[in-house]
Amino acid sequence: MDCMEGSDFWGLILNQRKIAASTFLFVVSFGPFFLTSLNRYCMKKLENTCALVTGAASGIGKAIALLFAEEGAKVVVADLDAVAAEAVAHQIRHLGGHALGLACDVSDQQQVERLLEATLHEFGSLDVLVNNAGIMDNFMPLDKVTDVLWEKIMAVNVNGPFFTCRLAIVQMLKQGKGSIINIASVGGVAGARAGLAYTTSKHALVGMSKNIGFMYAQKGIRCNAIAPGGVTTHIMDDAEPDQEGAALCSSGAGSMPRMGEANEIAKVALFLASDDASFVNGETLVADGGWLAY
Ligand SMILES: NC(=O)c1ccc[n+]([C@@H]2O[C@H](COP(=O)([O-])OP(=O)(O)OC[C@H]3O[C@@H](n4cnc5c(N)ncnc54)[C@H](O)[C@@H]3O)[C@@H](O)[C@H]2O)c1
Repeated sequence: MDCMEGSDFWGLILNQRKIAASTFLFVVSFGPFFLTSLNRYCMKKLENTCALVTGAASGIGKAIALLFAEEGAKVVVADLDAVAAEAVAHQIRHLGGHALGLACDVSDQQQVERLLEATLHEFGSLDVLVNNAGIMDNFMPLDKVTDVLWEKIMAVNVNGPFFTCRLAIVQMLKQGKGSIINIASVGGVAGARAGLAYTTSKHALVGMSKNIGFMYAQKGIRCNAIAPGGVTTHIMDDAEPDQEGAALCSSGAGSMPRMGEANEIAKVALFLASDDASFVNGETLVADGGWLAY
């Protein structure tokens, strides 16, 4: 039969209307949900934020600067090495991001003041501060620690974060929000990973992070530390390790599952910087592949 009966024809029309009505209802009911989910999925984690990363010309700091920029942050790349800092900032801009490379010795309070001024002048806010600049101490045990070594390690690893945090907190309080991340070390939670000065400085940084986290918790500001295990970077390039101290510390190195990559620490920093970590404060996140679990 090639011709449709009258009742079949009206049945088909009615069916099509029902399908159209159900589709309409489905889109109206679930459309906003899908759009919100899609938006959340596409939205970068640090969009509309400004992040300042110290020691960002190399290793862990560089990986953090690049990842933060990829996630939408405007990044200030600060480092002792001005040329290398600008090279990282250039790389970010080349990829379509916003970045400023600046020379800064974090142990020099006036340079830190200029760094904060330049950051606010360029980007107008400071949402994330990463205190990453840090130096090792050649595994010197107490009896071999000179005043010069002690002061140098404390100046960079403790005074530096203190200067940056003290200025950053003023701006973060004005904004009513902010996240501070201090790159400590497994040497900041254990006694056998470095010399006396480095171990003391990183324990101090862990304490500083807890105190800041606690004191400003009600003001929308979080402060956490990361304690990386061994990570492949340039930190040991110019080292002249003390034989005795290095031998003692490396006696536990056999329990280290593997060396980490800078980007694996950057991902932890991204978590702490973003709203994903909105309830994580005053914490020290160990990222060592399980070394301390031994
Ligand atoms: N690599 C590791 O195994 C390891 C493990 C635990 C913790 N850390 C910590 O990670 C941080 C980064 O170290 P990395 O391993 O990437 O080393 P790195 O040497 O590759 O990078 C450190 C960067 O900091 C800069 N810097 C040094 N002193 C500075 C100062 N006074 N002011 C400004 N910038 C300065 C250097 O120029 C360099 O670009 C350090 O705080 C270090 O203590 C590293």
